Amino acid sequence: MTAASESQTGARVQRLPLARFTTLGVGGEAEVWFVATHEQLAEAMSAPYRILGGGSNLVIADEGVPERVIRLSGPLAERDLTPDPDLSEGDALVTGWVGGGVPLPGLVRALQKLGLGNLEGTVGIPAQVGGAVWMNAGTRYGEMFDGLHTLEIATPDGLQVLSPDDLRWGYRNSGIPRGHIVTRVRLKLQRSTPEEVLAKMTLADTARKGQPKMKTPGCAFKNPGGVGAGRLIDEAGLKGTRVGGALIAPEHANFIVNLGGATAGDVHALLDLIRQRVGVPLELEYELWPGGAQGQAASTSTSRPWAVERQ
Ligand code: FAD
Ligand code: EPU
Repeated sequence: MTAASESQTGARVQRLPLARFTTLGVGGEAEVWFVATHEQLAEAMSAPYRILGGGSNLVIADEGVPERVIRLSGPLAERDLTPDPDLSEGDALVTGWVGGGVPLPGLVRALQKLGLGNLEGTVGIPAQVGGAVWMNAGTRYGEMFDGLHTLEIATPDGLQVLSPDDLRWGYRNSGIPRGHIVTRVRLKLQRSTPEEVLAKMTLADTARKGQPKMKTPGCAFKNPGGVGAGRLIDEAGLKGTRVGGALIAPEHANFIVNLGGATAGDVHALLDLIRQRVGVPLELEYELWPGGAQGQAASTSTSRPWAVERQ
C-alpha cells in the first residue's frame, strides 16, 4: 500500500490490496483509480485498465493485477430516484441517473420504501449497479434488465447512451463488451406499494436461505440448463471438499467459501476438481483476474473528448 496521489484530472490514485474490495477477501495489490467524473474516467481509461464493482463475482490472483483498477466514486456512485416528468407516464416511472458505483442492496431497499417495483428479484445481490448491469445479475424472480430504461456506457471510443433494446442481453449476460464501463443508468420502475414490493422481495430472499453466509463470490458456475450446477456438483460428492483455506460449501455445492487465509490458487484447485468430476461442461460465472481469456481485455486507447453518440 502506498500514499494516495492525484491524477492530472484529480482522480485519487493509490496502490492497494484488492482483497478488501472483494466478497471473497482474496487478491493482491494494484493501482486503484477512484474516479468521480467522466473526465477522470477518460484519463483512467487512457492506459490498460480493469473496472471493479462490488467485487462480488471476482477471484483475484494473490499477485494482484498489473493494470489500473478503476472504481466509480463521488457522483458516479450517487443516485437520483426522482421520476423524470418527460419520460414517466402514469405508474410507469423513469428515474434520474443512478451511478454505476451505487451499491445495489441500498438501492433495492430504497425502492422498497418508496413502493417502486421491477427490481425486487435482485434483492440480496451484493453488487454495485454497474457490475450487476454488466452481468445482468438476477434470480428466477427477476433480473437487472427488468428495471432498466437507459444505459450510459464509457467505451475506449467515447460515451454511448443506449436502450436495453440495443443490447443482446440474457441470463447472466448484458451483451455489453468487456472493458466497456457502465457509468450511469436510468431505471424503469412500476409504482406499487411498499408492502407489495416487500412481499415480492421476501419471495426472492427466501430462495437464498440455503446459501452460505461466509466470504464467497457467489455461485461458481452458471446453471447449464435443466439441472442446476449446484445439484451436479453435489451429486458428484464434492460438498465439503477443502483445499487450503477454500471449501465447497456444505450448504450449497455451487458456492466456494473462504474459511480464512484462502488463496486464489486454492479456489482454482477446487474449480479444476469440479470440472474434472462433473460429467457436464460447466461455464464459469466468476471472473478470474488476471485469468487469461477469462480476464478483462484492457484498453490501450488514448484519452479523448467524449461525445454522446446516441440519445
Ligand atoms: P464485480 O465482481 O466487481 O465485477 C464483475 C464483473 O463486472 C467484472 O468483469 C467487472 O469488470 C465488471 N464490472 C464491474 N463494474 C462494472 C461497471 N460499472 N461497468 C462494466 N463492467 C463492470 N449474482 C446473481 O446474478 N444472482 C444472485 O442471486 C447472486 N447472489 C450472490 C450472492 C452472494 C453472497 C455473492 C457474493 C454474489 C452473488 N452473485 C449473484 C454474484 C454477483 O453479485 C454478481 O455477478 C454481480 O453482478 C457482480 O457485480 P459486482 O458489482 O460485484 O461486480
Ligand atoms: N441443489 C442441490 N444441492 C446443492 C445445491 C442445490 O441439490 O448443493 C438443488 C436444490 O435443492 C434445488 C436446485 O438444486 O432443487 C436449485 O438450487 P437453488 O434453488 O439453490 O438455485 P440455484 O440454481 O443453485 C440460482 C442462482 C443464484 C440465485 C438462486 C436464488 C445461478 C448459477 N444461481 O441458484 O445466483 O441466488 O438461484 O434465486 O443461476 C449467483 O449467480 O451467484 C447466485 C448466487
